[in-house]
Amino acid sequence: MTLEIIPSKSSCGAEIRGINLKAQLSAEDSLAIYHAWLKYLVIYFRGQNLGENEHLRFTKYFGTPGDYMRPDNLKTNRMKKRHPAVMFISNIRENGEPIGALPDGEMMFHTDTAYDHHLHKATTLYSLEVPEKGGETIFSNQYAVYEALPGNLKSLLKGRDAYTAYEFGTTVKTKPKYDHKEKQSAMHPVFRLHEETGRMAVFVNELMTEEIEGLDKAQNIEILKKIFDLQRKPQFCYEHRWEVGDLIIWDNRCSLHARRDFPSDQRRLMRRITVQGNRPVYKGE
Ligand SMILES: [Fe+2]
Repeated sequence: MTLEIIPSKSSCGAEIRGINLKAQLSAEDSLAIYHAWLKYLVIYFRGQNLGENEHLRFTKYFGTPGDYMRPDNLKTNRMKKRHPAVMFISNIRENGEPIGALPDGEMMFHTDTAYDHHLHKATTLYSLEVPEKGGETIFSNQYAVYEALPGNLKSLLKGRDAYTAYEFGTTVKTKPKYDHKEKQSAMHPVFRLHEETGRMAVFVNELMTEEIEGLDKAQNIEILKKIFDLQRKPQFCYEHRWEVGDLIIWDNRCSLHARRDFPSDQRRLMRRITVQGNRPVYKGE
């Protein structure tokens, strides 16, 4: 079969057909897939049947798999036994304990691993079990959000950093600041230059960005709200309705993702492997 790229009708996202990821990819196909990923930010393959090693091999076409960053003292025994790069996201419980992380409900827009200075450039997610309804993943194009920002806001925020923090396990932030001793944090530029495409993207997110440096409290609240509202607008988003056997890879440097709520009595099981990245850079004009 020949590889086929079908862009979504939204501002990001494309399906790739004609590829069986159980087999090793040719250099030509892996390059075409990589370029499609840079162009569409989020690409997906339906109907795959991937074991952990095949999933890992696919991840390596994009770089070096990144270890699951959850600190050891916050890992369950099950988590500790897995391959260091593999994370399970699941609401399935055995003996009362979830077999994976981030088990239930909605999850706000975020960038994976943004609480770390060297966050991972890409995330792959493979669906093993999906609920009948809900649990969709929504992706937001941050190049498009950057372009849509008014000029005065771009000038005000250009070159600034933002304080980014996270308490592991949080899916919806219900307090203004994370205050648990186990939180992790990093400073990141508000606008990030993508090192491969050379395009500028907004790099703050609702779940993890707490404060933009150099702005007072009222300005912070007002400006961050304006940006978060923009990121949610449907014209910037692709919504993925999961089927069993989907593999998605998204670019954490220029997209955000969120999860819709789903019934807690329906099983959801996803395998996640990320790809290591560089510290975000900003280049002033
Ligand atoms: Fe995520």
